[in-house]
Amino acid sequence: MIYKFYQQRIFPHLLNKVMQTPSMMDARAELLRKVKGQVLEIGFGTGLNLPFYQVEQLIALEPNADLYQLAQKNVLDAPFNVQHIQASAEKLPFADHSIDQIVSTWTLCSIANLQQALAEIYRVLKPEGTFHLVEHVQYHDHPTLKKLQNILTPMQKVIADGCHLNRNIELDLSNANFKFIEKYYFDADELPKVGCRMLMARVQKV
Ligand SMILES: C[S@@+](CC[C@H](N)C(=O)[O-])C[C@H]1O[C@@H](n2cnc3c(N)ncnc32)[C@H](O)[C@@H]1O
Repeated sequence: MIYKFYQQRIFPHLLNKVMQTPSMMDARAELLRKVKGQVLEIGFGTGLNLPFYQVEQLIALEPNADLYQLAQKNVLDAPFNVQHIQASAEKLPFADHSIDQIVSTWTLCSIANLQQALAEIYRVLKPEGTFHLVEHVQYHDHPTLKKLQNILTPMQKVIADGCHLNRNIELDLSNANFKFIEKYYFDADELPKVGCRMLMARVQKV
């Protein structure tokens, strides 16, 4: 009961606030600078990427009903057409090889079955299409922080709607048959050490 209240009434607003740190907003701008044409964003959340798109139309997919509701104002205020869909990346409602560009900003950490979602992204992406992402990830060069990420992930999943602190997204993408056309790691300012290691990447189908 209390947890449901937290998830429905408190978490969406908390998320909306936390996801707007200056370093995260800078990363959004950097990622979306190169995104043009027909775009699908998975895990649209409250719509914090909208100011950075230079597109005519966006398909914005979000499974969480409360985040979907909270995003409605941003969707209506957007200066371009937004098709706001309530659905999961684990079962994308699109045809094979039909989407030019797919975007994920801090969404892959929260998808329960990431392998299935990456297979779905692979399926719907056009052969020459690009998947653009920025995600917080597991440390590969800091054993103590990596261990802490493993210890804290069960708690993080409860307080942050399924978010894993310890995913090796680079490996998950490689295993899903994506090749990297751009990739770099950075540590975001203003965030706790345990969640500040970021992967910025653009990948295509092998
Ligand atoms: C940390 S939030 C990030 C929100 C947003 N992408 C942003 O940059 O502010 C994680 C997002 O992933 C979404 N998510 C969780 N499971 C998902 C799934 N199976 N398919 C698509 N999105 C999912 C959540 O509902 C939430 O919007």
